[in-house]
Amino acid sequence: MPQYLVTGAAGFIGRSIAAALLARGDSVRGIDSFIAGKRANLVGLEAMEFLEGDLRKPADCARACAGVEIVLHEAALASVPRSVAAPAETNDNCVNATLNLLVAARDAKVRRVIYAGSSSAYGDTPTLPKHEEMLPNPISPYAVAKLAGEHYMRAFTRVYGLETVVLRYFNVFGPYQDPASPYSGVLAVFCRRLLAGEQPTIYGDGGQSRDFTFIENVAHGNLLAAAAPAEKVSGQVMNVATGTRITLNETFAILRELTGYRGEPAYAPARAGDIRDSLADIRRAETLLGYRPQVDFREGLRRTVEWYRAVRPD
Ligand code: UD1
Repeated sequence: MPQYLVTGAAGFIGRSIAAALLARGDSVRGIDSFIAGKRANLVGLEAMEFLEGDLRKPADCARACAGVEIVLHEAALASVPRSVAAPAETNDNCVNATLNLLVAARDAKVRRVIYAGSSSAYGDTPTLPKHEEMLPNPISPYAVAKLAGEHYMRAFTRVYGLETVVLRYFNVFGPYQDPASPYSGVLAVFCRRLLAGEQPTIYGDGGQSRDFTFIENVAHGNLLAAAAPAEKVSGQVMNVATGTRITLNETFAILRELTGYRGEPAYAPARAGDIRDSLADIRRAETLLGYRPQVDFREGLRRTVEWYRAVRPD
């Protein structure tokens, strides 16, 4: 029986965590419905036991959880604008799916569930950096859905004794992120467009800032969260990010250097549900997990551009 279950294993973050586990010789099962994940992302993960299944179905959750010790729950419809366009779909695939998974994990006597939380929980409050003591203030359906999942984690720790750890990711980017959907993360979109010589669009004035976090840092945080003692981490929420931020205009300038693109961006009105600034306080993850970012933003962006240059995904 595999020790680990990764949900959303054919998605960008799930496949990267699965790869990190396999690289150190761990046994892994993955599940994905291919709503957002891609079969191409499973290349290189042949050592993983893979189930095609949908967490909205309790029976699929039960199959996935059978016999595993630790679940890394990365499956979601990860997009603010997608949730604005179709809030019920986001709720089904984030909230209902997470609850089904937790029930199955409890019934299968899984020891620990690690949950992909989102920085969007903090919303548009002016306080920077965002720290975990702040009152959540979700402003998009996506943020509400991801936050509801966090609350379910804590409730399952309190009432059923299931160990849970919430990692609030801040704008994750890197190889394997889908650049082709209208809901793709901005850095995936920009890498693809600039490498193809196509003009990118900046929504708003480009002064908005993010704590863009390279995928390897997120995988590292998950491995630490899986190994940390329960008395330190169970029932806890912690940011996983870099503790630095950069504006979209500055990011575009770096990407121009890295890609050789010579044009200017187009500017369009700001997106509904968008927030202005995002920056994490990462001291809690440092204290509880010994987490430190392994790869800084520039180096992460350089590796990401090289990956898109080599792979050219459609
Ligand atoms: C949000 C969450 C993040 C979550 C992600 C899931 C915050 C701070 N972050 O990211 O934790 O994981 O949703 O999708 O809430 N943009 C452009 N041009 C484009 C695409 C995007 O200018 O072609 C802009 C957006 O308007 C936004 C910024 O780039 O201001 C980042 O957008 P995106 O990558 O979609 O992520 P967030 O919405 O910040």
